[in-house]
Amino acid sequence: PLIRFVEADGTAHTVDAAVGQSLKQAALDHLVPGIIGDCGGCASCGTCHAYVDEKFLPSLPPADGNEDMILDGVPAARAHNSRLTCQIPVTDDMSGMVVHIPDAQL
Ligand code: FES
Repeated sequence: PLIRFVEADGTAHTVDAAVGQSLKQAALDHLVPGIIGDCGGCASCGTCHAYVDEKFLPSLPPADGNEDMILDGVPAARAHNSRLTCQIPVTDDMSGMVVHIPDAQL
C-alpha cells in the first residue's frame, strides 16, 4: 500500500510499503528522514514516534502498556494519535494513510 510520510516541515514522501513490515521499517527502507528506530523495533527507544492518520486509528492494534510508557517520554509533544511506528504492521487496507513525523526524535 502507498503510505505518505510527512516531515515536520511539510516535505512529503510517498512510499510503497510491504505488507507485514512495520511502518517504521517502511520509512527506513525508503530513506524517509525523521524516523530513526534506534532500538531496531522492540519498542524501547521511542525514536520511531509519529502521528498516525486519524482515519486509520480505529483499525490499528492498540498501544500496549510498554508503548504507552515510551510515548510518555518522547521529546516531541505526545498527541492522541501518537504511536511507535515499529509497533504497527503494514496491512493492505492502509493505502492512503498519512503519517506525520514529529519535529524531534532525540
Ligand atoms: Fe525503537 Fe520503535 S524503533 S521504539
